[in-house]
Amino acid sequence: MNIGIDLGTANVLITMGKQGVVLNEPSVIAFNKKTEEVIAVGFEAKKMEGRTPDHITVIRPLEDGVISDHNMTKSMIKFFIEKVTGKQLIMPDIIICIPSAITDVENRAVIEAAKTAGAKKVWLLEEPLAALIGAGIDISNPDGNMVIDFGGGTTDTAVVSMNGIVVRRSIRTAGNKLDRAIVKYIAARYKVLIGEKTAEEAKITAANIYNPDGTKTTVVKGRHLIRGLPERIEITDYDIYEAIIDPVAEIIAAVKSVLEQTPPELAADIFKNGIVITGGGGLLGGFDKLLTSELGVRCYNADRPLESVAIGASIAFGKMDELLDGFKHVSMLT
Ligand SMILES: Nc1ncnc2c1ncn2[C@@H]1O[C@H](COP(=O)(O)OP(=O)(O)OP(=O)(O)O)[C@@H](O)[C@H]1O
Ligand SMILES: [Mg+2]
Repeated sequence: MNIGIDLGTANVLITMGKQGVVLNEPSVIAFNKKTEEVIAVGFEAKKMEGRTPDHITVIRPLEDGVISDHNMTKSMIKFFIEKVTGKQLIMPDIIICIPSAITDVENRAVIEAAKTAGAKKVWLLEEPLAALIGAGIDISNPDGNMVIDFGGGTTDTAVVSMNGIVVRRSIRTAGNKLDRAIVKYIAARYKVLIGEKTAEEAKITAANIYNPDGTKTTVVKGRHLIRGLPERIEITDYDIYEAIIDPVAEIIAAVKSVLEQTPPELAADIFKNGIVITGGGGLLGGFDKLLTSELGVRCYNADRPLESVAIGASIAFGKMDELLDGFKHVSMLT
């Protein structure tokens, strides 16, 4: 049995054998501080966010692309693996794609978690390789391909050729930061404090960062900062643009810097092949168009951008030999 895991800041996806994606849940865990028990994981835990009494905390252990709480991360991974494998006796082989910013200690925590959940062998696969493979791109040739994985916690840009990463840059600016920027902007402009979840919904429904024209609007609810009472206001794509253009510009600058460091032959390949965008952040209204016009290279979203990394992990099982360089820590895991 083969299991592929995309351990994302916002979402964890798991693929199983040929079944494709069998689990897709938020990377959230709820914990009872009194009894030291895990109360809920995934969807169930996300529902509790912002709604708990003092003794219960809701944690996003992978927030911002780093594993901030090893034990919580472990519990979460173990829970998800056991959820998909059930009570089967066959020990699965597992490929895990982890955020690039995490350290070796944290890698170890991830591996341990997979092992306690019953894994026979565990491999860690570089995320950009998984993203490209999952987007249906053949990365084995001497031909340059570029991917921007714009997720919740990190935006990871890489140029890949012959199954290896040639240039790479990862920044901690992605979807979550955009949400926080919207919260800040609405507070400053309208004196209304909204929650991050509300900000995310507004971003998803009303963003158009390529040519905002006031036609996309949405209603947000929050608390008026001076009157202290609940308030609803209508905001437009102009507001969203103003709120998030700075972090978006940071992302574009990071992508540009990768292109600038790319050797000329590979840069020519990328110009011909275009740049594939994976991750949920890339669905931001107008992002592909803005990036295309800023770079002068065609940038497009993968078919199922939220699933690319997980699908790539499942396909990687069939490419173990050729991909070997893209895996980390292979020896210590057997
Ligand atoms: N239609 C949309 N428009 C804008 N943003 C979106 C859209 N759909 C999802 N997102 C954003 O995508 C992000 C989640 O993407 P994804 O699931 O790829 O992240 P992740 O893999 O968990 O994070 P990371 O790769 O950084 O660890 C969230 O910030 C979410 O708000
Ligand atoms: Mg991701």
